[in-house]
Amino acid sequence: MVYIEEGMVLGIGTGSTVNQLIEVLKDRKIQLKGAVSSSNQTAAALRIARIPELDLNSEGDLSLYIDGADEATADGMLIKGGGAALTREKVVAAASAKFVCIIDDSKLVEVLGSTFALPVEVIPMARSYVARELVKLGGLPVLRQGVVTDNGNVVLDVHLRIPDPVAFETAVNQIAGVVTVGLFARRGADVLIVASDGGVRTLVLSP
Ligand code: A5P
Repeated sequence: MVYIEEGMVLGIGTGSTVNQLIEVLKDRKIQLKGAVSSSNQTAAALRIARIPELDLNSEGDLSLYIDGADEATADGMLIKGGGAALTREKVVAAASAKFVCIIDDSKLVEVLGSTFALPVEVIPMARSYVARELVKLGGLPVLRQGVVTDNGNVVLDVHLRIPDPVAFETAVNQIAGVVTVGLFARRGADVLIVASDGGVRTLVLSP
């Protein structure tokens, strides 16, 4: 565990990868000052592990954010939000100096959107309008049934390939009613840890 230090405030994502990390932190009894969580789900896991949950507003910028992803390119651009936690994940990632993303090699793609639909969190009354705008951008949006985010919003899963993730992230951010697009292109991962049957590779993408 090169990146996690005793006494630090850790920004922490959401999902099965992060849940395993929380288990490791608990078992190894690493004493963090606490963690800033990206979801109610992660907050519950932190409580079970007896890791104090801290408030981003009180902590200010963080040194480290760790999370998984649904798809990644080798240069650290990501699709996230399969667990509907994309908004708080994006906030904590933005507020952190270093973003370490842990994936398995099945999630590495040449072009984002190849295997996973892009989640977009939308305020409920704007759902149909945003869907029509996403169609104009070339996507096929599908409402994620039965899901309400921690922020009380809905999620559209948009099927399309994204050859220019920075431009597409910017375009979707301009649509009124969009809370967050699950493209992490402008602020991607600084370090990508890729697990495979052959071992673990660490791609350091920015210092
Ligand atoms: C949560 O909304 C997502 O962004 C997760 O970070 C992503 O789906 C990775 O989840 P797993 O670690 O469960 O694959």
